[in-house]
Amino acid sequence: MKSFDQQTTSPLSSESTQNEFLLSFIKGEKKAIEVAHSVWQQVVQKGDKVLDATCGNGHDTLALIKMVSGGGGGQVYGLDIQKSAIEKTTALLNASFPHADDNKKMKETVELFLLCHSRMEEIVPKGSFVKLVCFNLGYLPGGDKSIITVPERTLEALEAASRIVGSGGLISVLVYVGHIGGKEEYETVLAFASVLPVDSWVCSKFEMVNRPLAPVLVFLFKK
Ligand SMILES: C[S@@+](CC[C@H](N)C(=O)[O-])C[C@H]1O[C@@H](n2cnc3c(N)ncnc32)[C@H](O)[C@@H]1O
Repeated sequence: MKSFDQQTTSPLSSESTQNEFLLSFIKGEKKAIEVAHSVWQQVVQKGDKVLDATCGNGHDTLALIKMVSGGGGGQVYGLDIQKSAIEKTTALLNASFPHADDNKKMKETVELFLLCHSRMEEIVPKGSFVKLVCFNLGYLPGGDKSIITVPERTLEALEAASRIVGSGGLISVLVYVGHIGGKEEYETVLAFASVLPVDSWVCSKFEMVNRPLAPVLVFLFKK
């Protein structure tokens, strides 16, 4: 395994690899979350501050740590309302950086908060911006499926995210429409995105047209 400081430029960073990733999604070979990670890798640079609004099992948080680390100053803020999610994320991160030096650097890079994402502005230092806020909505896989993201809080969180993402930054939202309330949440995300001013935001979505219950990937890019 690479050491903490060797979490260098991603193998997905070249344009051709990025295009291959897009084609794989179009051909149904890659999942939406894999496409999301490949896009994040294009936007996020070493040393950036980023925020994972739904830590869950920690896979996205781990991916983000690898993207920001190695350049000095990189910071990942991770939030979840479930203690079990914070514990699972902590366990995954510790298992991913088992060596003492790497583990110490990882812990300096990431801060996890048992907090609703609608309150994300409370944890990002005043006056500073983040390069990415990512949402992976729905319930915790392997956890209590009755605890899910809800449209009201998601909307407040999107509004907060739009205030803390800096120019050239991205809000990435993976929306699951298959569970109860999922469609309503999807419509909330789209309604928010569709009225963002075109002079400062580019809003797009990736959607499987003939699989209406497949997750939808929404990107809000701040010019
Ligand atoms: C699909 S999971 C996230 C998966 C995760 N990103 C990963 O890589 O494993 C959704 C998570 O959102 C969390 N969640 C639900 N409502 C939330 C809220 N208001 N604020 C922050 N997290 C919330 C859930 O507890 C759950 O862990």
